[in-house]
Order: sequence, then C-alpha cells, then structure tokens
Amino acid sequence: MKILKCNCLKNIFEKPLLLYAPVFPYLVVVLILMGLLYISKLNPITENKIPLVPPDSVLYSTELSLQEPKTIKAIEFAMLKTPTSEMLDKGKELFISSCGSCHGNDGKGDGVAGVALNPKPRNFYNQDGWKNGPKVSGMYLTLQKGIPGSGMAAYDFLSANDRLAIIHFIRQEFMTNPATDTDTELQTLDKIYNLTAGTVQPGQIPIPEAENLLLQGK
Ligand code: HEC
Repeated sequence: MKILKCNCLKNIFEKPLLLYAPVFPYLVVVLILMGLLYISKLNPITENKIPLVPPDSVLYSTELSLQEPKTIKAIEFAMLKTPTSEMLDKGKELFISSCGSCHGNDGKGDGVAGVALNPKPRNFYNQDGWKNGPKVSGMYLTLQKGIPGSGMAAYDFLSANDRLAIIHFIRQEFMTNPATDTDTELQTLDKIYNLTAGTVQPGQIPIPEAENLLLQGK
C-alpha cells in the first residue's frame, strides 16, 4: 500500500498531466453549471417571448413653438467690398473656431488637423496655386462648395453674413494687397446667392392654437 502511494506521487511529479484525470469530472460539472446559468439569464427578447409593441407615437408628439415670420438679415452691397469692424471681429472669432484647426490661427496653413492632409491646407500668405482664388467671390465659392478632392469641406451651413465676415478677416489679416473683385463680379455673386435680398423665413403656429383661431372664425 505504502509503495503504491509513493509510486503515485512519483508518477504525478513525472507526468503532471495525470492530475487532469481526477480534476476532469469537476471541470465538466462546472461547465454544465455555467451553461445552465447562462441559459437561465438569456434575455427574454432574444428568445422572442415578448411580442414587440411599437411605442405609441401620440404619447411623444410635441407641438411646434409659435414663431413670428422673420427676414434673415440681408447684406449691404457695400459690405461685400468693405467690412465693418464688427464684421472683422466676428470673422476672427469664427476663423479661430472653424478654420484655425487646419489653416492655423495665424493663417499659415500649419494647424494641427491639417498636418496629414494632402493637399495641405492653404497658407493664406502664399499667393500661388489658389483654385477658386483669393477674391471675395472666389472664397465665397470655396465656402459654398468646398474644394473637391481635398480636406476643404463646404461651409454652406454658415450664414452668408458669417461667411463674408470670415472672408474679410482672412483677406485683411493675412494677405497683403489681395486681388479685389470688380463691381460686376460682386453683382454676379450677389445675384447667384441672393446676398442683398435677404431671406424670408415663414412663421409657424402650434396646431391647437391654429384650431382655436379657426373656431373663432379668424
Ligand atoms: C479639415 C481641414 C480644413 C478646415 C477645417 C478648413 N479648411 Fe480651408 N482648406 C483646407 C485644405 C486642405 C485646402 C487646400 C485645398 C486645395 O488646395 O485643393 C483648403 C483651402 C482653402 C482655401 C483656398 C481655396 C482655393 O481657392 O484654393 C480657402 C479660401 C479656405 N480653405 C478657407 C477656409 C475657411 C474660411 C475655413 C473655415 C470656415 C476653412 N478653410 C476650414 C482644409 C481645411
């Protein structure tokens, strides 16, 4: 008996894999328990037991707010040529928040977000190689459409006022004697994008209020 035991121990030290035999049944039991636990916790939805009821959209309906019709401020023709000082301040603010990441806050095309871009963001001090050009009309086109095939996206979501403010800021701050538009070029720009006409934004009225007005015969 004693000899047998010694042999066993010796065997285990020589072939540790033998330990696997007595442990194996416990391993099986643990795995089965884990499986049962997993099944008992399966989300009822993954078993398709709950009929899906779409949410009642009526519960979430929100009314429009009452809004007066308004005219989005038109641009004075003179401002296409010469910016006011408020415009330049606004332009600086917008340039730093929207453009500086690529073009650099100092306009030299060395912003951190532009490092990996090809072509590189424009250095506004450099006069060569402009695609739409540095005139107000050219830069407006760049902001309207972006430069296809480059990192320069369209900024058509900015209002015409904001775009002009940025353009004037860039031209004034970074460029020496930038090319200027002729009056005809500015008139064409105005005609294409309705800059001096302004835009009328219609008002809106909540449905219950509209119903009341109708009932009152107004
Ligand atoms: C994601 C980086 C990025 C941002 C942000 C960005 N630009 Fe650019 N921009 C570029 C790149 C790249 C070019 C060069 C495109 C080319 O040469 O094809 C460029 C070119 C330009 C040009 C020269 C267009 C021409 O005629 O060649 C103007 C003007 C310009 N950007 C203005 C702006 C203004 C204004 C803003 C902010 C409202 C802005 N960019 C924001 C990357 C950017």
